[in-house]
Amino acid sequence: MISLNIEKTFGFISKESVSAYEAQVKAAQEALENGTGKGNDFLGWLHLPSSISKEHLADLKATAQVLRDNCEVVIVAGIGGSYLGARAVIEALSNSFTWLQEKKTAPVMIYAGHNIGEDYLYELTEFLKDKKFGVINISKSGTTTETALAFRLLKKQCEDQRGKEMAKKVIVAVTDAKKGAARVTADKEGYKSFIIPDNVGGRFSVLTPVGLLPIAVAGFDIEQLVSGAANMEKACGADVPFAENPAAIYAATRNELYKNGKKIEILVNFCPKLHYVSEWWKQLYGESEGKDNKGIFPAAVDFSTDLHSMGQWIQEGERTIFETVISVDKVNHKLEVPSDEANLDGLNFLAGKRVDEVNKMAELGTQLAHVDGGVPNMRIVIPELSEYSIGQLLYFFEKACGISGYLLGVNPFNQPGVEAYKKNMFALLNKPGYEEESKAIQARL
Ligand code: PA5
Repeated sequence: MISLNIEKTFGFISKESVSAYEAQVKAAQEALENGTGKGNDFLGWLHLPSSISKEHLADLKATAQVLRDNCEVVIVAGIGGSYLGARAVIEALSNSFTWLQEKKTAPVMIYAGHNIGEDYLYELTEFLKDKKFGVINISKSGTTTETALAFRLLKKQCEDQRGKEMAKKVIVAVTDAKKGAARVTADKEGYKSFIIPDNVGGRFSVLTPVGLLPIAVAGFDIEQLVSGAANMEKACGADVPFAENPAAIYAATRNELYKNGKKIEILVNFCPKLHYVSEWWKQLYGESEGKDNKGIFPAAVDFSTDLHSMGQWIQEGERTIFETVISVDKVNHKLEVPSDEANLDGLNFLAGKRVDEVNKMAELGTQLAHVDGGVPNMRIVIPELSEYSIGQLLYFFEKACGISGYLLGVNPFNQPGVEAYKKNMFALLNKPGYEEESKAIQARL
C-alpha cells in the first residue's frame, strides 16, 4: 500500500493548520461524490477503477494480442492526456534497455503525435521503413492537429508498407463514440476502436483504453493496474476519515503550503523510470489547477541526476518551493558494489553494499539538506515498481487533484487556456473557418 508522510512540512506549516482543512475537504469530497461542484460533467474517473468490467479488460487484452502478434513496433499517437498516462506506466515498468536488444518479448513502443517536429517525424518514418509496425491513434476530440498530422503520415506508411488489409488489423483507434475525424476515419476504414467516455477528461483518462490498450500491448498486467487503482479508490473514499485518507492529507497540505507562499511544487524521484510519471503528474496538476490567475506551478526533477544541475537552486534559490518525493521502497533487482583491491576510486567503503542502499542514503541526505535549506518536504512511499503499486499511485494523484482543485476554488476539470495557442496557430495557417482571425493576426505581425 502506498503511504504519505508530511512530517517534514511541519517546520513550515503546523499540523493544526493541515487538520483545519477537514471540513473543506469533506465538502470537496461530497461535491465530487454528488456531482455538485464545478466541472461536474467530467467526473467519470471518480469510480472508474471499481467499475471496469472483466469483459472490457478481456476485449482490450484481445486487441493488444493482435498488435503483439503482428507488430515489432507499435506507435502510440496522442498528446497530453492522450499519451502521457500510457507512457508513464510503460516506462515505469519496462526494462530500461530491452528496446535495444535483439530478442524482444513485446513490440517496441514509440510515441508520436505529441510534437510537430519535422525532424522527429522524418526520422520516425525512416526508422519504420523496414519494420512491421502498427498504430494506436488516440484522440478524444479526434481533431488535435499534432496527433492528426502524425497519424496521417503513419496511416499512409502503414498501408503502403503492409497493405490495406494488414493495416486494418494493426491500426486501432481510441476516440469519441460519435464525433471527430478519428471516429469518422475508424468507422470508414473499419478499424477496431475503443471509446473514451464523454465524462472522462484527457488527463484523467489513463484507466480508460487511452492508457490500458498501449499498456497491455507493452505486455503489462492491466488487471493488476486497475486492481491497485480500485484499492486506492477505497482508501481515498469519501467515507474514510480525513486523518487516514492520503488524498485528503496531500490535497490539504499542498494547499496550506501554497497559502504560505510556496508557489512551486517539485515532484522528485530517485528512480529514472519514474520520469514520465512526473510528466503525467505535471499535466494532471498544471492543467487542473493553473487557472483564474492562481495555482501551484508543478515542476519535476529526477534525482540524483538533477542534484547536479537543479540541486543548487533547490538548496539556496528563492524560498517559494516545496518538494514531494516519490520513494520506491524495494527495487526489483539486486546489485552490490564490488570490492576492489587497488581501491583507486576510494569506493571500498561502499563495497558489499547494495546500489539501492547508496541511493536511499542520497535520498535521505537530500531530504535533510533541503529541509534545512527551507524546502518543506512530503514523501510518498510506493512498495515497488509493479502494476498494482503504479495503479495505486495514479488514482491517489487523481483523487487528490480533484479535492485540491476544489480547495483552491477552481474548476479542476476544464482547460480553457489551452485554446489560445490553437486559435492563433489556425489563424496563421489559414485554416478554413478562421478567416476573420487570420486577418486580425496578420495585422498584428
Ligand atoms: O487533458 C486534456 O484534455 C488534454 O491534454 C488532451 O488530452 C490533449 O489536448 C489531447 O486531446 P485529444 O485527446 O482530444 O486529442
